Amino acid sequence: MATGIPGFDELVGGGFPKAFNILLTGSPGSGKTIFGQQFLYNGAVTGHPGVYISLDMSDEIFRQQGDQFGWDIEKLENEDKLAIVKVPLDRKSVRLFDKIREEVKRVKAERIVFDSLASFSINIDQFDVPLVYDEEITKVLNSSNMADKELFYSGGSEQRTTYLTINHLSKLGTTNVIITDRVEGENRLTVDGVSEFVCDGVIQFDIADLGGGASRMLKVLKIRGTHNSLDFHNFEITDRGIVVSPPEMK
Ligand SMILES: Nc1ncnc2c1ncn2[C@@H]1O[C@H](COP(=O)(O)OP(=O)(O)OP(=O)(O)O)[C@@H](O)[C@H]1O
Ligand SMILES: [Mg+2]
Repeated sequence: MATGIPGFDELVGGGFPKAFNILLTGSPGSGKTIFGQQFLYNGAVTGHPGVYISLDMSDEIFRQQGDQFGWDIEKLENEDKLAIVKVPLDRKSVRLFDKIREEVKRVKAERIVFDSLASFSINIDQFDVPLVYDEEITKVLNSSNMADKELFYSGGSEQRTTYLTINHLSKLGTTNVIITDRVEGENRLTVDGVSEFVCDGVIQFDIADLGGGASRMLKVLKIRGTHNSLDFHNFEITDRGIVVSPPEMK
């Protein structure tokens, strides 16, 4: 699944392997959401529809951000090539995974961007996270007399929630870009400490000030089963989105 992001696909052997879960982790403002949006936009215009799940920004801001880069998000929505799952954070018992599955089916999505795991965990009280997420099993359980409570996780562990979320997303068969936060100055790659192990691929985003102005960079930490470059690569956010610089000659 080529991202179509100039300079990026060659770092990962041409694109993300189909049906993989790829985690983007990094500091605030490092470019994770724009990367995700570009992955969805490029997919949608080349016959690979996608779904954006936003807990961090409103759908209106998401569209406006796309406009800045010349990406007409609304047009793609109208053509059923891209869907935005709006997540109400002012309600309880939201069945987010049902909504995601519905939208994935409706637009025949091949790609998902989940933005972000960290926000999902912070707001976990609003959601019903099923313990099992398989369409058939869910149907059986829904028609049985089993109390609803027994079907959903209510233990409150961030690690378990994270694990279940990634697991549910991988059941959809889509190629998933899952965004989370990294706390600057901490050794850990993610705030939850488990998603980097559960996902098939991890890309770290960073902003560094090496004198002469800050620059953005990314590093592919792992993609299971493929050879990837382990260097940090500089990238810029241009008026056409992210452009990764070619490696410097050594
Ligand atoms: N048109 C643009 N041209 C250049 N830079 C831009 C443009 N639009 C946004 N940016 C930069 O991109 C940054 C935001 O990128 P993005 O939203 O992808 O970051 P993020 O890693 O998702 O951050 P957060 O963790 O806060 O969600 C902004 O802080 C801004 O500096
Ligand atoms: Mg973001």
